[in-house]
Amino acid sequence: MVLEKFKRSIIFLLLFFTNASGAFVGINIGTEISNLPSAADIVSIIRTQQIKHVRLFDANHQMLSALANTGIDVMIGVPNDQLLRIGQSRSVAADWVNKNVAAFVPQTNITFIAVGNEILTLIPNAALVLVPAMQFLQSALVAANLNLQVKVSSPQSMDIIPIPFPPSAAKFNSTWNSVMSQYLQFLKNTGSSFMLNAQPYYGYTKSQGIFPIEYALFQPLNPNNQIVDPNTNFYYNNMFDAMVDAAYYSMQSLNFTSIPVVVTASGWPSLGGTNESDANIDNALVYNSNLVRHVLNGSGTPSQPTMEVSAYIYELFNEDLRPGPISEQNWGIFFPNGTTVYSLNFGNPSESKPDPTSLVGQFCVANSSASSNALRKGLDWACGPGAANCSAIQPGGPCYDANNLVALASYAYNDYYHRMQANGGTCNFANTAMITTTNPSHGSCIFAGSSGSNNSTGGDSALGPSSSDSEAQRLEGFFLSFPISIMLCFLFDV
Ligand SMILES: *[C@@H]1O[C@H](CO)[C@@H](O)[C@H](O)[C@H]1NC(C)=O
Ligand SMILES: *[C@@H]1O[C@H](CO)[C@@H](O)[C@H](O)[C@H]1NC(C)=O
Ligand SMILES: *[C@@H]1O[C@H](CO)[C@@H](O)[C@H](O)[C@H]1NC(C)=O
Ligand SMILES: *[C@@H]1O[C@H](CO)[C@@H](O)[C@H](O)[C@H]1NC(C)=O
Ligand SMILES: *[C@@H]1O[C@H](CO)[C@@H](O)[C@H](O)[C@H]1NC(C)=O
Ligand SMILES: *[C@@H]1O[C@H](CO)[C@@H](O)[C@H](O)[C@H]1NC(C)=O
Ligand SMILES: *[C@@H]1O[C@H](CO)[C@@H](O)[C@H](O)[C@H]1NC(C)=O
Ligand SMILES: *[C@@H]1O[C@H](CO)[C@@H](O)[C@H](O)[C@H]1NC(C)=O
Ligand SMILES: *[C@@H]1O[C@H](CO)[C@@H](O)[C@H](O)[C@H]1NC(C)=O
Ligand SMILES: *[C@@H]1O[C@H](CO)[C@@H](O)[C@H](O)[C@H]1NC(C)=O
Repeated sequence: MVLEKFKRSIIFLLLFFTNASGAFVGINIGTEISNLPSAADIVSIIRTQQIKHVRLFDANHQMLSALANTGIDVMIGVPNDQLLRIGQSRSVAADWVNKNVAAFVPQTNITFIAVGNEILTLIPNAALVLVPAMQFLQSALVAANLNLQVKVSSPQSMDIIPIPFPPSAAKFNSTWNSVMSQYLQFLKNTGSSFMLNAQPYYGYTKSQGIFPIEYALFQPLNPNNQIVDPNTNFYYNNMFDAMVDAAYYSMQSLNFTSIPVVVTASGWPSLGGTNESDANIDNALVYNSNLVRHVLNGSGTPSQPTMEVSAYIYELFNEDLRPGPISEQNWGIFFPNGTTVYSLNFGNPSESKPDPTSLVGQFCVANSSASSNALRKGLDWACGPGAANCSAIQPGGPCYDANNLVALASYAYNDYYHRMQANGGTCNFANTAMITTTNPSHGSCIFAGSSGSNNSTGGDSALGPSSSDSEAQRLEGFFLSFPISIMLCFLFDV
């Protein structure tokens, strides 16, 4: 009985860490693509990934129909080129709401209207119609009795905050103080959120080496190189939090508080031109997986630790028609043909289990020729954001082998692969992994996909030579770096 209660409180704790947070991760769906998939195909990709929140840049009717009855929440957008008409005419705004919102709810769960995108910094000439457009749309929602479920806001670029660091000193570009005050008053009155496009990729590349890349990628910082706001003494572990805090402090400088921030676009390009070497698959995978983990952790920012920040990843597809440098066309998680650029795990990791019937006899193992560093990164990722069940490779577990990084990574890669393959997970891990039919199981160490125990004790060709002592020490660091929710799973095995 006592034990039962104890177990239940542990389950509650787990839910608290993994689930109680209201913060969510969604995804942007840009459509500047020469071979755009059909709306049905796009929605099918989203559902396979278990994505529950999407942001469209317009109010495309095929997409809104395809999203009906899916349980997916939808942010629609007023494209910048429609803003002027809506901001100048109450009846045009009412018409827009009737055609693009009222006609689709409740089957399609429209929750936000994003009015324009980065208007103040992209088309300053339209600044004066921004708030009127928001007000006209809001009135139309009120008339349709939809104002409680659909919130109106307008995504701002970080460029609206000319000096974002230190966050405590951040202010909006004063050119826009009057418009910003009206915008914030509108958000306050209607219970809406400040929409921020927060892109550490730009913050990092534009900072010309002031900030370490680890700071942009949510990776641990060198203890000698911590980033502190000198006015508040808050430590910033990552640029994302610093950007969100810069927005809170900028609002505060106009005397607005407790307006939540929702990050409407954040991501990392997986490919760039020769002058864009930070745009690569490794960084994109690390950034986006860490972003997912960070947001779902629901921990808030240093200045607002209790305000959860949701984020829409930028973006679902590579958009080949977007102008600009090569990186601009390569922010997607998917190619337009539906193949993954790299495999990102969006969902609540605890919800996916390995499928015992699929892929029996196929194993995803570490390539023993890969560098230790790359394998460690892969292992770290698989057991962290990849949400593989790594309990068997914990000290004392049946597959624990402190000195054999290849064996540890193989176990983690394989567990991830069997768990996530049906959802688009691949056996890649930055080219350090490969498929084999040789069963690496041995003794009581059973790999997913194995039809039974294989009692051969190691020495499998896929599992290369033992690594050095210093590697073992670094692995200890790895075991300490698990997020708390995963640690709890290890400890309590519920
Ligand atoms: C629509 O989305 C909101 C916000 O996420 C949610 O609270 C609500 O339950 C959803 N409604 C339906 C019908 O799915
Ligand atoms: C503020 O915005 C104005 C208008 O767009 C622009 O001309 C100016 O350069 C901006 N100031 C800063 C410091 O970015
Ligand atoms: C904010 O409030 C303070 C104190 O009430 C006031 O002095 C200041 O002028 C206000 N700032 C703005 C931008 O309204
Ligand atoms: C998760 O949140 C807790 C506090 O709520 C914080 O201590 C921890 O650093 C966060 N982890 C990550 C990975 O952000
Ligand atoms: C790289 O070069 C392209 C084309 O010359 C340019 O548009 C882009 O801004 C450059 N990117 C960086 C990060 O310097
Ligand atoms: C999908 O597109 C990518 C990029 O163009 C290409 O590399 C890949 O082979 C394509 N996959 C399929 C199944 O057509
Ligand atoms: C393993 O890695 C080495 C070195 O990176 C590479 O040459 C080899 O092709 C890889 N093997 C497989 C099966 O991917
Ligand atoms: C993780 O794997 C262990 C065996 O290695 C198993 O006992 C446990 O139930 C698994 N946990 C989850 C959450 O699947
Ligand atoms: C067990 O491992 C050995 C050596 O790697 C392999 O030849 C054999 O096929 C495996 N047996 C099973 C049941 O997977
Ligand atoms: C594997 O070893 C266990 C004990 O270590 C034994 O009970 C089992 O029968 C063996 N299985 C096979 C297939 O040899």
